[in-house]
Amino acid sequence: MILQENPIILAPMEGVIDALMRDLLTSINDYDLCVTEFVRVVKGLVPKHVFKKICPELLTNGKTPNGTPVRVQLLGQHPQWLAENALRAIELGSPGVDLNFGCPAPTVNKSKGGAMLLKTPEVIYQIINACREAVPDNLEVSAKIRLGWEDTAQFNEILSAVESAGASTLAIHARTKKQGYKAPAHWQYIGQATSQITTPVIANGEIWQRDDAIKCIHTSKTKRLMLGRGALATPNLANVVKFDEQPMTNDELIHLLIHFCHQVPEGVKEHYLSSRLKQWLKYVRLQYPIAQLIFDELKYLHQKDDILQCLDRYLITK
Ligand SMILES: Cc1cc2nc3c(=O)[nH]c(=O)nc-3n(C[C@H](O)[C@H](O)[C@H](O)COP(=O)(O)O)c2cc1C
Repeated sequence: MILQENPIILAPMEGVIDALMRDLLTSINDYDLCVTEFVRVVKGLVPKHVFKKICPELLTNGKTPNGTPVRVQLLGQHPQWLAENALRAIELGSPGVDLNFGCPAPTVNKSKGGAMLLKTPEVIYQIINACREAVPDNLEVSAKIRLGWEDTAQFNEILSAVESAGASTLAIHARTKKQGYKAPAHWQYIGQATSQITTPVIANGEIWQRDDAIKCIHTSKTKRLMLGRGALATPNLANVVKFDEQPMTNDELIHLLIHFCHQVPEGVKEHYLSSRLKQWLKYVRLQYPIAQLIFDELKYLHQKDDILQCLDRYLITK
């Protein structure tokens, strides 16, 4: 199956896919778009420096160093404040804004944000509508949802709200809030959405290999895909999917990990590098047994030189 024309988006992952990771993954893959970790909107305008911290690419025309667009994601519950912050994100250089209606974190849900909004489709409507009115017509206002909170009873209503509010695209993480991140993802609901609404739909959830992507496209009846954990587990997954590339070899993977170590800024907290690397390896080890061995050794290492020596030992070709 030829998937070269299929748009592939790098999923937002709070605390994991930051500017550094976006740079790394877009430099080795042909992603069409990245979405940032969420910017939390409570009341009032979020300071500009917060936007720039979460999305440093705003300083480079809203693009990663290799030119992939990066869209700011907003999370909140007040239509008016989200709209004003959407405009601020645009003025700062974000190519469109993405709205989060899927976050399951208790702190976010307690204040009625993220996935909690799936219980009130009319508020989803108001938020998208307000942001759509605030953002210039030529820029996208996209939304990201789950299938529902407890169950899928309100799924149709949520879809209608998203469509009638004028969202440019809709990414669907094919699980309810209650289902968390537990496999499987229920792609058949995405298929229901693509036949029910005219809003272009992006399929998300449990794409770890090319075969998963093909099955997902078939079931969800959309050519647009969003990759999350799989994109970290197999770092060249977008190109594996699009161009039928082979997943990177162990040595290619280790060279990439070494590159990552060099990219982590100097002078940050002592354990920053080792904890970031371990965090990434937790995903990589799902696809590469060698990553588990490296992970086990890294537990005891904190200095950059020690970590680099450890990685070097696992290289077959030096
Ligand atoms: C650690 C972590 C952080 C996440 N942060 C965000 C986020 O900030 N915004 C968002 O819309 N989704 C977030 N998600 C959800 C992912 O974007 C994605 O929808 C989910 O992981 C399912 O896709 P996957 O099976 O390909 O990983 C996060 C997921 C994880 C595991």
